[in-house]
Amino acid sequence: MFVSDSLSVNSRGHLTIGGADVVSLAEKYGTPLYIMDEDKIRRTCRAYTSALKQCYGDSHTVFYASKAFSAKYIYKIIAEEGLGADVVSGGELYTAIKAGFPADRIHFHGNNKTSAEIELAIKYGIGQFVVDNDEELNLINEIAKRENIVADISFRVKPGIDAHTHDFVKTGQIDSKFGVALENGEAFEIVKKAISLPNIRLCGVHCHIGSQIFDIEPFAHAAEVMMAFVAKIKNELSYEICELNLGGGFGVRYTEADDPKSIFDAVKNFTDAVKREAEKFGVKLPHISIEPGRSIVAEAGITVYAVGAVKEIKGIRTYISVDGGMTDNPRYALYGSEYTMLLPERALAEKTECVTVAGRNCESGDLLGENISLPKAQPGDLLAVLTTGAYNYSMASNYNRVPRPPVVMVNNGEDKLVVKRETYEDIIANDIM
Ligand code: LLP
Repeated sequence: MFVSDSLSVNSRGHLTIGGADVVSLAEKYGTPLYIMDEDKIRRTCRAYTSALKQCYGDSHTVFYASKAFSAKYIYKIIAEEGLGADVVSGGELYTAIKAGFPADRIHFHGNNKTSAEIELAIKYGIGQFVVDNDEELNLINEIAKRENIVADISFRVKPGIDAHTHDFVKTGQIDSKFGVALENGEAFEIVKKAISLPNIRLCGVHCHIGSQIFDIEPFAHAAEVMMAFVAKIKNELSYEICELNLGGGFGVRYTEADDPKSIFDAVKNFTDAVKREAEKFGVKLPHISIEPGRSIVAEAGITVYAVGAVKEIKGIRTYISVDGGMTDNPRYALYGSEYTMLLPERALAEKTECVTVAGRNCESGDLLGENISLPKAQPGDLLAVLTTGAYNYSMASNYNRVPRPPVVMVNNGEDKLVVKRETYEDIIANDIM
């Protein structure tokens, strides 16, 4: 009935998430409010790990790409579910460590890691750096030498695959700021160099072809290209690459039109490709890693707002303004991302209106969606945007000095506050004069 199986309707006609009444949660915590279903997140983690186990055996790791939603509590869930974590900044790394996440299960990504971040990561004893470029390789080698350690690394490789998704989140092609390219020999050269560096241990190769991808074939295609690279390294450098990381990017449902394949089908498809290619090239089966972010948290989350002004511009459009906007969800402004919305107090009411949902920021582009089907909304109604668990809280800002909303986790009907609402005092906390 809804875009996420976390959602349902109770006997009062109210929207529920993870068994909790959304209207009661909005009364208890105020709006805007992010709500996430912990059980849904855990079920999705298990769907990945069990699909990999069934299709590929034990030699696999699922790294949660924590840029999708980073707060201490998610790292606790992920740790308990036995996943690793992919971090891309000192801030994400610090959050994970402070949440008690095991450092050796952390992979550090990013196309421009600073010396301070690399030092911190080495101090914490992270599992692996996913190295982006030559500059960074030298830097990690130097710092590792100074610290008297050998740093485990893999390389972010651009496999030259076109994933059919938004240009802003496409990353597998040669014209990308991330990683080293295969087709011009850059990746091979850097591998050769890494093997010769005393304070570097090259463990794996990595690729990430993009995000919100529905077609599962590009993942299998990426696996083929990467396995050919593993074979080339073995044949020409006599060096065995033990790990293959295929990144994240699996699509989720924002609207009825979205139709992602099941996690099992996606996993089966790329693991079959890895097995086939390993046999073809006569190389050992690598440890397979993946890094889903969005697909672990997106459908587990919703955002609840209060409707304020309703502005009907005759013959043009109706604007419904809510008490949040691009500060808590910049995705429509950035990518034109579509969402499903509804009024949680009348979750099954017929959607008779076509409206533009606007935020409260001083910016015309501050919209959450256009051509949105909704029942007729009045000032004071609640409005829920679905599938906001990924890249909403993590991309939120304080533009216009708007405080960020809190995050409430629900689990089988029980709710708990895991991130509190920012206050005006928080907003001025770093202003020293
Ligand atoms: N691994 C790497 C190296 C990545 O760059 C990303 C996402 C992921 C994994 C996780 O991808 P996912 O499974 O979440 O698709 N802000 C954009 C998405 C940017 C994705 C960046 N990289 C959005 O809101 O759509």
